[in-house]
Amino acid sequence: MSEHCDNNCGSCGEDCADRRGEKPNFRAAPNELSQIKKVIGIVSGKGGVGKSSVSAMLAVTMRRLGYRVGVLDADVTGPSIPKAFGIQGKAEGSEQGLYPKQSSTGIEIMSINLLLENDTDPVIWRGPILANTVKQFWSDVIWGDVDFLFIDMPPGTGDVPLTVFQSIPVDGIVIVTSPQELVSMIVAKALRMAEMMKVPVLGLVENMSYFKCPDNGKEYKIFGESHIDEIAGKHGLKVLAKLPIDPNISAACDNGMIEQFDGNWFDAVGKQLAGQ
Ligand SMILES: Nc1ncnc2c1ncn2[C@@H]1O[C@H](COP(=O)(O)OP(=O)(O)OP(=O)(O)O)[C@@H](O)[C@H]1O
Ligand SMILES: [Mg+2]
Repeated sequence: MSEHCDNNCGSCGEDCADRRGEKPNFRAAPNELSQIKKVIGIVSGKGGVGKSSVSAMLAVTMRRLGYRVGVLDADVTGPSIPKAFGIQGKAEGSEQGLYPKQSSTGIEIMSINLLLENDTDPVIWRGPILANTVKQFWSDVIWGDVDFLFIDMPPGTGDVPLTVFQSIPVDGIVIVTSPQELVSMIVAKALRMAEMMKVPVLGLVENMSYFKCPDNGKEYKIFGESHIDEIAGKHGLKVLAKLPIDPNISAACDNGMIEQFDGNWFDAVGKQLAGQ
């Protein structure tokens, strides 16, 4: 492809792979010591809806079911996976690649925060470098034998998610939303990206769906009525889970104790993933 390509072959005479009808292959090979059975991306069209918490809880769910699990933190500018799992220390490497850190229940984790000298160092790199880092988390990390690798994607539909889809064979994505006005458009965007990248959508997770008052047991819709069933129906998708706003989730996530989360929200999804 010409570096000035505007996808309009009528205005260009370049003899490129696109014109010859050849599909460029951006796929990166995994590290030769990695055997990864299923790769699941967790995406959202918007930040702060609980993507990292959902990625972490899905990983914990599959680990509790006895699978070998990894989490690849692809959110390079806002990494939060090591913190959710309470991982201290830095990742180490050898000539063969980089070793992920193991959580207390044996979940393999790789994140930019395990490579930076200080957790608080900001990552102020441009898109292509960020994207390349994520690609290396696939090609240079020695994941070993993993049944499920969950990828916590950066929010939105920019350079990094695009590179993840182009370079890593993602088997399916989970779209995380919260109840709000723009949700229909946000889901449509994420879906469109998945379609363009030819990645199957496993379903939707609505986070912060409601709050159950511990005093009277009543459910309150803090962010407004949910339209998730309607949206899922419109696109022919499954609603995989609806999570309450629960201070225990934020406490577990923010204090490195996500492996102790207590809730059955992901039981059905876990069974579905296990059965695939
Ligand atoms: N269901 C929930 N109940 C209570 N708190 C929650 C819930 N889900 C997430 N949180 C909290 O909300 C905050 C944002 O969640 P999280 O970091 O998972 O979102 P994110 O989508 O990954 O954000 P970002 O776009 O910044 O990566 C965190 O402090 C988390 O602990
Ligand atoms: Mg996050």
